[in-house]
Amino acid sequence: MTTSTTVRAVAIIPAQPGAVRVTTIDVPEPGPGEVEIGVIRVGVCGTDRELIRGEIGFPPAGSDELILGHEVVGRVLTLGPGVTGLAIGDLVTVTVRRPDGCAACQAGEPDMCLDREYTERGIAGAHGFMAERIVERQDWVVKVPDRLEPVAMLTEPLTVVEKAVRQANLIQHRLNYWNLKTAVVMGAGPIGLLGTLLLRSRGVDTYTLARTPAPNPAAELVTASGATYISTSEQALGELAATLPNIDLILESSGSSQVVFESMRLLGNNGVLVLLSLTGGHDTHEVPTAELNTSLVAGNKVVVGSVNAGMVDFANAVESLGRFEDLWPGLTESMITHRFTLDDDLASATGKLPGGIKSVIEFGNGG
Ligand code: BGC
Repeated sequence: MTTSTTVRAVAIIPAQPGAVRVTTIDVPEPGPGEVEIGVIRVGVCGTDRELIRGEIGFPPAGSDELILGHEVVGRVLTLGPGVTGLAIGDLVTVTVRRPDGCAACQAGEPDMCLDREYTERGIAGAHGFMAERIVERQDWVVKVPDRLEPVAMLTEPLTVVEKAVRQANLIQHRLNYWNLKTAVVMGAGPIGLLGTLLLRSRGVDTYTLARTPAPNPAAELVTASGATYISTSEQALGELAATLPNIDLILESSGSSQVVFESMRLLGNNGVLVLLSLTGGHDTHEVPTAELNTSLVAGNKVVVGSVNAGMVDFANAVESLGRFEDLWPGLTESMITHRFTLDDDLASATGKLPGGIKSVIEFGNGG
């Protein structure tokens, strides 16, 4: 007989925007090929805030509620029948997207889904990880070394920039001389900061641009990694291009569709601009179309969108987190500016906080 355990979780009702609350959910015993994971902590991100505002997302079939959370670290509690390569007590994280029947998904790349009928845990059609316990197929579970426990919930947001840089390098196979020397990161939220650390850990000369003037916690982190923080409220983007070397790569994670087009102009010849901001809403702006087009054509520039991440990016992100620790002990963890539990006010826990970079919800389970 299958038994289940009732645990506490953080949920929204997608059809009723604005309310985030603690609920309970029955977690079944892991079936064949599945593992049960005791959740240690889960990161909160901009996507969660969009979900809470009712702008995106939908619950699993047959449920009004959607359990939030897609940035998780936990430990394996129970192994279902037939699970190999994982042991009770292993520290793990879990991928987000589950495939549909399209050619890309069937070829093992759900992050490149053609039909967009995938599900995403904690976002689209599947419960997420903000629960005391979760069950997942072992195929989507990624082992993490114990020493990375304090930062392992950042694996998932890091995969977003891992994929971006991987895509840029794949695209640049078009060039005989490709050598990523200079990069600009647009935005100093968690994705921009993880992108900055990733590029710096690979020795790339990196400039991270954000509106807020220094000093601020994000600017400190950028500087500590050896990158240069530039406030766009103090220096106009147009002037900046003239002062920097040819920009080989821009990671656009500002969240502003206007900055996307400004980035096209800033991008150096033969460069790649990777767009990572999912800009909700319906903003419109005037853009100099002829000028931008000429700069892209004459400069052999590439603009590419990138979302989610593949298994390879998870493996690379775990390796990168280790490299970050070796290079800058404790720096990645300093991104965690606020910690909450299920007993705290969830509106604050999931809200954008002054000076905050990343909030996490602690679920216990021993760490
Ligand atoms: C997640 C991605 C996901 C995207 C769109 C992001 O917050 O990091 O994994 O694909 O939201 O739902």
